[in-house]
Amino acid sequence: MTKGPIGIFDSGYGGLTILKEIEALMPQYDFLYLGDNARAPYGTRSFETVYQYTLECVKWFFDQGCSLVVLACNTASAKALRNIQQHDLPLIAKDKRVLGVIRPTTEIIGTITKSKSIGVMATSGTVASDSYRIEIQKFNPDYNVFQQACPLLVPLIENNEHDTPGADYFVKKYIDALMNQSPEIDTVLLGCTHYPLLEKKIRQYLPEQINIVSQGPIVAKSLQSYLSRHPEIEEKCLKNSHIQFYTTDSADDFNLKASVFYGKEVNAVHVSL
Ligand code: DGL
Repeated sequence: MTKGPIGIFDSGYGGLTILKEIEALMPQYDFLYLGDNARAPYGTRSFETVYQYTLECVKWFFDQGCSLVVLACNTASAKALRNIQQHDLPLIAKDKRVLGVIRPTTEIIGTITKSKSIGVMATSGTVASDSYRIEIQKFNPDYNVFQQACPLLVPLIENNEHDTPGADYFVKKYIDALMNQSPEIDTVLLGCTHYPLLEKKIRQYLPEQINIVSQGPIVAKSLQSYLSRHPEIEEKCLKNSHIQFYTTDSADDFNLKASVFYGKEVNAVHVSL
């Protein structure tokens, strides 16, 4: 049996906020991170484009020997995961698995809200897919889900402007637009893997009693539970605590920015897909 690392995918840097939490919980595993920085952001792209790009990246992970890939990107999870799971995997890799970040989040978020009213901040693509409302209401049909597209937050974060006063304007604008949808909202989900970097600013503009939910710890726990329930996949995962980073754009740029998301220095390699 050939073993391989667990693949962690994002359009760019956001998935590093997820990898950080996964690594903290399961340091024994090997991971391969791919950021499709050359084609990011995904958040404003069409369904078809996000699906094509994501599928190409998933195939690349399979070529590197991964049996399990986590789409650590809400936009890819919303727009590509179902197609890949239902149409592509049975054709190209029956024994491999691809997981997303939306399902694990929606399994948990219903236990956090008391008012049964959840606000979601996400990319335009994730909001347009309506995935969060659909998935949350599968578990909790009587819950209300209010969504706000925040198209300028990813570019602000990717350009390292998230700690500047300029970012406050857009954070406040999006939060006001979300909270104006319902006074009942008591829980706000950061439904984009980039947004944990803005959590402090988001906290500043939200009333104190509102819960803010970040996905990293939720996705990490869910992956751990998945591996314990699926020994046939777990036994194909390498355990040498080795992590490699790849980007489809400049490795030097990736290394410069990645530590902001990951909290540590990285040494990425460029890959052309
Ligand atoms: N990090 C991605 C997400 O969670 C979005 C970034 C992008 O727009 O490419 O949706």
